[in-house]
Amino acid sequence: MSSTFYLTTPIYYVNAPPHLGHLYTTVVGDCLRRHFTQRGRDVFFLTGTDEHGRNIEKAAQSAGIPTQQHVDQTAAKFQQMLVDFSLESSRFIRTTDPAHKAGAQKLFQTLKDNGHIYKGQYDGLYCVACNQYYTEREAVSQGDEKTCPVHGLALERVKEESYFFRLSAFQQPLLEHYRKHPEFIRPEGRLNEVIAFVSGGLEDLSVSRTSVRWGIPVPGDPSHTLYVWLDALSNYITALGYGNEEYDGFQKYWPANLHLVGKDILRFHTVYWPAFLMGAGLELPRQVYAHGMWISGGRKMSKTLGNVINIHALRKHFSVDAVRYFIFREKSFGDDSDFNYPAFIRRYNGELAAGIGNLSSRTLTLVQSSLGGKVPQAGADADNEKVRAVAREVKEEFLAQMEQLEFNVALQSAWRLISETDQYLQATKPWALAKEPSRIAELEKSLGTAAEVLRHLAVMLYPLMPQSMESLWGQLGLAGSPSRENPERLEWGGAGARAMGGAVAALFQRYNEKEVLATLQAEGEYRPEGVPPAAEAPKAPPEGGAEAGVISIDDFMKVDLRVGIVKTADRVQGADKLLKLEVDLGEEQPRQILAGIAMAYAPQELVGRRVVVVANLAPRKMRGLESRGMLLAATGEDGKPALVVPPENVPPGAKVR
Ligand code: MSP
Repeated sequence: MSSTFYLTTPIYYVNAPPHLGHLYTTVVGDCLRRHFTQRGRDVFFLTGTDEHGRNIEKAAQSAGIPTQQHVDQTAAKFQQMLVDFSLESSRFIRTTDPAHKAGAQKLFQTLKDNGHIYKGQYDGLYCVACNQYYTEREAVSQGDEKTCPVHGLALERVKEESYFFRLSAFQQPLLEHYRKHPEFIRPEGRLNEVIAFVSGGLEDLSVSRTSVRWGIPVPGDPSHTLYVWLDALSNYITALGYGNEEYDGFQKYWPANLHLVGKDILRFHTVYWPAFLMGAGLELPRQVYAHGMWISGGRKMSKTLGNVINIHALRKHFSVDAVRYFIFREKSFGDDSDFNYPAFIRRYNGELAAGIGNLSSRTLTLVQSSLGGKVPQAGADADNEKVRAVAREVKEEFLAQMEQLEFNVALQSAWRLISETDQYLQATKPWALAKEPSRIAELEKSLGTAAEVLRHLAVMLYPLMPQSMESLWGQLGLAGSPSRENPERLEWGGAGARAMGGAVAALFQRYNEKEVLATLQAEGEYRPEGVPPAAEAPKAPPEGGAEAGVISIDDFMKVDLRVGIVKTADRVQGADKLLKLEVDLGEEQPRQILAGIAMAYAPQELVGRRVVVVANLAPRKMRGLESRGMLLAATGEDGKPALVVPPENVPPGAKVR
């Protein structure tokens, strides 16, 4: 087996700041980097940002800043996410790096030189949010309009000259590759999905745009820019120095061992990408693993629905390892799962605080108080035979499960060892032995066994919860770090007697579920089940004791106030007071809002103005038009509405409190 391991996660679109879904892929990448490094592999872990395309240019325009500044600011947020969650990549690639641009251009040129690219005319339906064309068949008809099957946004009909990649010619080679290397696509269900798609026939792919300026120029024909997916996918090789002098590692690390991706971008990685690589005469990655999605409240996370799990709130209220544990344990890697805070806190309290946390504090507190802080070497006798056997079995299972990316099952295996050890302690009762000086040898055996289990756990669980396992390692008085211990080589009794490393510190302090949930709710990050969003809440009389008309801070926090920028404003026929506005709230699309301000404002004077919007008001119809929000206004001395004006330096979408 080669000693190198090249592992990638997708590069993130910088059109929105990171959320739990983005964090997830990177946490998994970081965990595998640590795990395979422990096992002696030379791991190269790549992540980065995907910074080109029309929607990014549009987002910058609506923020009123240069596109480069916009991508720099958002890329910085993703880099900050790595820092905040102690995630370490070997390289962070940005598609606006000159080195990446050169490499992407080389890939295009090579495909062209090899006869796989030709010039033609494109006529298609394009979704700016997906950065993808849809066929008439794939698009969803809504009245006269064709809309995107993923976002429901109106598709743009685009006709333009374009370079095409002969994807159709790769149908058979791709099917042949899937047949010969079924491990190329995981989990297995996804392999079948891709085979069915490719077997249905492949059309040539448009790989350049004349309508998009914010992109990498096509070599020799700068009126075209590279199709964003050709640009983005090439990051996996440009980051290793393909087509540039800036980076290196291509000879050493390519082909990638594992591309980790979300199932939403499976097709790009298992159809387009291998076809590009074949066309360029390059080796194919060994495996693409498509993981499932995190949803929230049963729905896809979206800013508009207000159900995005905010990574800053996670970081503010919980430890990095608590977050890591939950996202590994709660769902099987390939499946979708709903994120909810009560489940998070219950798992934490029940499995971390009461599980491994309790085992370690009980053991170490007794070592300190009854053995003078001296951790005994683990012995092997009939009493601990079962624990030793389970430790051996669990180690083997755990290693295999980690290789298969079955993180939740691997954690269950580790917890089997914890519960076996809890039973062992119940049977040997070290707390009782500690009271009988004549039974010190038995006490040493009991605590030596528990400490040895903890050593095993620290090594195995380190990639999943690095900070707490480092702490446990230190408390056990072990030298070095679990990051440098190979779990394959764990042997019972492998560490000698030693002094504990200082005072006992709780690995996982219990959370008070009620208090934490109340705080999250007050901060607008959590809504208990059954409580409708603020805008739909039934009007209730003031609660007992509260003065009529007085609301609690919780009630106020339910109102989602946002800064918006008016993009367009028009009169509504037959309605003197109403104006129809398109307001940018930093979302994928501006919102249509109807406002009764026509007596006070002419439409043209509103365009470009900043306003404050109630963003989570239930949509209402007025004059047959839907309004998705309300502008805040006071009544002036003249009795006319006067809009509330936020400061100039606040971006669209900023919350108002
Ligand atoms: N820029 C492309 C990838 C190009 S790779 C050559 C992209 N970016 S993304 O920011 O939209 O998504 C990045 C990763 O985050 C993807 O793997 C995506 O599946 C993952 N997730 C985004 N939302 C997610 C959830 N809600 N849940 C889990 N992962 C999700 O796609």
